[in-house]
Amino acid sequence: MTKLRSGIDLVKVSRLAKAYENFGLRFLHRIYDNLEIEQFQKKSTRAKPFFLAKNFAGKEAVSKVIGYGFTNGVRPKDIVILRKYGGPKVKLNGRAKLLAKAQGLKDISLSLSDTEEHATAMAVAITE
Ligand SMILES: CC(C)(COP(=O)(O)OP(=O)(O)OC[C@H]1O[C@@H](n2cnc3c(N)ncnc32)[C@H](O)[C@@H]1OP(=O)(O)O)[C@@H](O)C(=O)NCCC(=O)NCCS
Repeated sequence: MTKLRSGIDLVKVSRLAKAYENFGLRFLHRIYDNLEIEQFQKKSTRAKPFFLAKNFAGKEAVSKVIGYGFTNGVRPKDIVILRKYGGPKVKLNGRAKLLAKAQGLKDISLSLSDTEEHATAMAVAITE
């Protein structure tokens, strides 16, 4: 039977900005995939914290769709948020990919948004 799954998240932009300020590349490589870091490096100084916050919210929202949060070996960097023309795309690696497949999760659709203070994400998928 087809079932709908959803996940939502909200983060403070300043929290991600501080983590990057304090831990720099070490923080980036712990949380984000190389493909995300490549996109991040192309952003302006002003856009950088918002990029980090939206992708982080996206990772948490997708982790809720998969259903395990960041437990059971699901790592933030295995949920890759790629900014594409027409909206973000989600690519899964490692345990996130395995657990999604085991549950019959089809394509995960993701929407991101932010204000000066917060970033938010909503993820939706169907299982078959
Ligand atoms: C899912 C998770 C990532 C969200 O954490 P968060 O951003 O601190 O919390 P949020 O306020 O966004 O979300 C909490 C809500 O998500 C929902 N939720 C919790 N676990 C969930 C899961 N496995 N699947 C779907 N939804 C879940 C619950 O409704 C929860 O609220 P409730 O406990 O009041 O019912 C977190 O619960 C988790 O997995 N933590 C694991 C360890 C960890 O934090 N690692 C950090 C790595 S950076």
